[in-house]
Amino acid sequence: MLDKINKLIAEISGFSVLSPDDLELFRLKFLSKKGYISELFDDFRNVASDEKKELGQKLNQLKQQAQERYNYLKDSLIQTQKTSRINDITRPAYPWNLGSRHPISIMRNDIISIFERIGFTVSEGPEIEDDDHVFTKLNFAPEHPARDMQDTFYISRLSTEDSDPRDILLRTHTSSVQVRVMQAQKPPIRTISPGRVFRNEAISARAHCIFHQVEGLYIDENVSFADLRQTLLFFAREMFGKKTEIRLRPSYFPFTEPSAEMDVSCTICGGKGCNVCKYTGWLEVLGCGMVHPAVLEACNIDSNKYTGFAFGMGIERPAMLKYQVNDLRLYFENDIRFLEQFRTAF
Ligand code: DAH
Repeated sequence: MLDKINKLIAEISGFSVLSPDDLELFRLKFLSKKGYISELFDDFRNVASDEKKELGQKLNQLKQQAQERYNYLKDSLIQTQKTSRINDITRPAYPWNLGSRHPISIMRNDIISIFERIGFTVSEGPEIEDDDHVFTKLNFAPEHPARDMQDTFYISRLSTEDSDPRDILLRTHTSSVQVRVMQAQKPPIRTISPGRVFRNEAISARAHCIFHQVEGLYIDENVSFADLRQTLLFFAREMFGKKTEIRLRPSYFPFTEPSAEMDVSCTICGGKGCNVCKYTGWLEVLGCGMVHPAVLEACNIDSNKYTGFAFGMGIERPAMLKYQVNDLRLYFENDIRFLEQFRTAF
C-alpha cells in the first residue's frame, strides 16, 4: 500500500492541466468518491493494526496534497485563460463603441413595459391611413376642423369640397389603430399602440409636424371610468414616481364620452409650483375617456354588451421633462452630440 501511495504522490505532483477538461479528469481520478484515494481509504480498513498509524498519516498526507494540487491547478488555469484572452490577436484593438438609444425610443419602451405588466399587448397600424380609420369611424363629423387641410397632410383627396372616407392621408393620431384593432379582434381587448403621427404644424421649439403617441384601448364587459382612472394612476406612478398624483379634467373628444384630460403633479417641483408647470403644480399628460358607443358600433362591437376606455398620450413631452430637453427639434435633427448623451441608457 505504501508503494501505491508513493506512486500517486509522484503522479499528482507531476500532473499538469491545459484545459478545464484536464482539471475535471484530475478531480475524478484523485478526489472523487470513486477515485484512487478514496479506494485506498476503503482498503485502509483491512490494514493490520500495527501498520495503521504510519499508513494513516501517509494517506492523509496524500489526500491533502491532492487537494492542494487541485486548487493550484485550478488557479493557474483561470490565470492562463485570463492572459490568453489579452493575447488574443484577433480581438479588436479598442473596445466596440455601442450605439445609444434615441430618447424617444427609451421613453416608448418604458411606457410599453409599464402597460405590458398589467396585461396590455402592443399593436401597430399604418402611418399612411385613410379618412375612415383616422376620422369617420372615430365619430368625427364630416365638417370637423381636424380634417382641415391646415391640420392634416393629405396624400390624395377624392373631393376638394368634402372629406371622403377613402381619402388617403398621414395619420394625425394613433387613435386610428384603435379602429383597426376593434375591426380585427373580438373583446376582451387590452392593447397599446405606439407610433408616429403627422400634423401640418409650423416647426418650432414647442411644436413639430412629426411626433410620437401611444394609444391605449381596453374593451370588455363592465369596464368603467373607475377602471380608467386606476389604470392611469398606476401608469403615472410607475412612470413619474410613487408620490405622483393625477387629476382628471373634463374635456371633449369625438370618440369618447365622457372625455377627460389627465394632469400629473409636476415632476420638477412636486406640485408646489415652478416655471415648468407655470406655477400651477400640474402638467398635462394625456387625453382619455370612455369609448363612444358610436365608435364601438362603427367597428361592429355590440355597445349594449361592451364598454371600454381609451387614452392617448404624446411621447415627446414627457421625454422632454425626463431628459430636460428644451427644444423639440433636437429629437429629429440626429445631431450626434445630442444622441451621444443617451449612450448608457438602454
Ligand atoms: N387622439 C387624441 C389626440 O391626438 C388623444 C386621445 C384623446 C386619444 C382621448 C384617446 C382618447 O384614445 O380617449 O389628441
